Amino acid sequence: MCGIVGYIGQREAYPIILKGLKRLEYRGYDSAGVALIGNNKLNVYKKKGKVAELEEYAVGKDVHANIGIGHTRWATHGEPSDRNAHPHISNNGAFALIHNGIIENYVLIKQELVKKGYTFKSDTDSEVLLNFIEDIKKNNNCTLEEALRIALKRVVGAYCILLIDVNDPTTIIAARKGSPLVIGIGKNEHFLASDASPIIEYTKEVVYVNDYEIAIVKSDELILKNLGNEKQTPYITKLDMDLAEIEKGGYEHFMLKEINEQPDSIYDCLRGRLLLHDGKIVMSGIEQNIEILKNAPRIIIVACGTSWHAGLIAEYVFEELCRTPVEVEYASEFRYRNPVIHKGDVIIAISQSGETADTLVALESAKEKGAFIFGVVNAVGSSIARLSHAGAYTHAGPEIGVASTKAFTGQLTVLIMMALKIGYAKATITHERYIQLMKDLESVPEKVKEILKDTTNIQHIANKYKDASDFLFLGRGYNFPIALEGALKLKEISYIHAEGYPAAEMKHGPIALVEEKLPVLFVATKDSYYQKIVSNVQEIKARKGKVIAVATADDNVIPNMANDVMFVPDADEIIAPLLSVIPLQLLSYYVGIAKGYDVDKPRNLAKSVTVE
Ligand code: G6P
Repeated sequence: MCGIVGYIGQREAYPIILKGLKRLEYRGYDSAGVALIGNNKLNVYKKKGKVAELEEYAVGKDVHANIGIGHTRWATHGEPSDRNAHPHISNNGAFALIHNGIIENYVLIKQELVKKGYTFKSDTDSEVLLNFIEDIKKNNNCTLEEALRIALKRVVGAYCILLIDVNDPTTIIAARKGSPLVIGIGKNEHFLASDASPIIEYTKEVVYVNDYEIAIVKSDELILKNLGNEKQTPYITKLDMDLAEIEKGGYEHFMLKEINEQPDSIYDCLRGRLLLHDGKIVMSGIEQNIEILKNAPRIIIVACGTSWHAGLIAEYVFEELCRTPVEVEYASEFRYRNPVIHKGDVIIAISQSGETADTLVALESAKEKGAFIFGVVNAVGSSIARLSHAGAYTHAGPEIGVASTKAFTGQLTVLIMMALKIGYAKATITHERYIQLMKDLESVPEKVKEILKDTTNIQHIANKYKDASDFLFLGRGYNFPIALEGALKLKEISYIHAEGYPAAEMKHGPIALVEEKLPVLFVATKDSYYQKIVSNVQEIKARKGKVIAVATADDNVIPNMANDVMFVPDADEIIAPLLSVIPLQLLSYYVGIAKGYDVDKPRNLAKSVTVE
């Protein structure tokens, strides 16, 4: 969580930082702030709320500077407020710091500092870290860089920090452990940010800073060191994205843009991999490790949120096509219960951002125990991508809307291709089935386009049910995780309480909730569970619940039973989730819009959750 930006060079820093913060707002929007050094003065402006509020507040103030740092916050320690907003200023008034992460032992350090007479303006762990650095510098009479190094050896937790000193307007000092940091290299200038989106319009050459590294950044020099003060060689990477990909491109919201991008993003994911003519799926991360993947006694899928739902579908797909036992784990639970990992076990990590702290920490410990890690990640060069032994990118492009949409269908596409490739190599699927599923997969972009062609019916349904206080989402088999995902999307975007459940399991509890006012959404496409789900629909109808269904285009049974229907084209049941999720994404979007909410930045959420 939290987005950080820094600039040092010949240009005005403030507009660059402000623009960068707007691009990073998906990481948190509880408050925003900047610290600038101009004319040997440190100017700090910060405000509760979104970056636009900071911008308004700074109008007419002195923002002239060629060096500065900025922060957009997702609150952990201390409520969202002006005083808890970053940057923080040290007691001596000379240093300003921004921080993304959590300092877990800050209480102890704060007590020590309070005894020494330090005072604190905020409730944050970050301000404690800053004054700790000031105190070390004073006591050791050392440089700020040295003081930071000593401090970081004592702190427990995760951080990406940027630090500036009013007495040295030629340097930004940065450090990372657990929270991401990218440095863009320009001509006589450097850009620092949590991800590449604030940097892309200025330079495509970037350095991804590693954990336990400190960067000393001047306009014409970048020095990387480890915590032992040894110089490291910066590894320069070329960014493979362009500005248009991270702008709204005429859509009112990123979420709607990203939903509509799915025919292209799924196509991009398949491109160069699914070679139907040759009957081949090309995925180098799998080819190079095919023996490990074929012989895995067990696959453990680790993820959070929407990515976890993609993992649940993958469980069904891998077990069906590869006959390998699969477990799907919430990363946060997996990590802390000392899981049993056997030799040969393969872990598939699924993450859009590649930075989710729970997933990252879970993988680190599984890696230590000898597991083989395969990453299914969207953000190129992200921490999870780098930590994995091998992987496959989803190629969905930057996803900015906080609620995940196109990244999810990208994940499913990659996971289905993986299962097909491994299953074919294991001979657990026939050639005919392999080719048929490849064909079906190839037709997905066109079918998604068909669903997106006319959304008036979905808008109508959204308006009809927008005032419901609860929703039940039900599905079976491959569509059960889609019911969970539909419920999650609705909760995230429209703040309506929604529960996803296996349709048959509904009898063991949720059916007690059913009455006239309860909308029950069935994901009921034609598959091997179809007859069973028809009976489940009857059970709800008999109790006067309002039935909304996602049904297959040629179905004439469910539409006659349901109060409202959203149709999707026919597809094999393994492929169907890629289609049935689309109306649910749109439904939550239109309900959120009808209720007047900010669908791109739902309350309390953040896109990249970099705290455990
Ligand atoms: C947050 C986001 C979700 C996302 C989850 C996991 O909760 O709001 O959309 O699914 O994190 O993120 P990841 O980047 O690891 O997929």
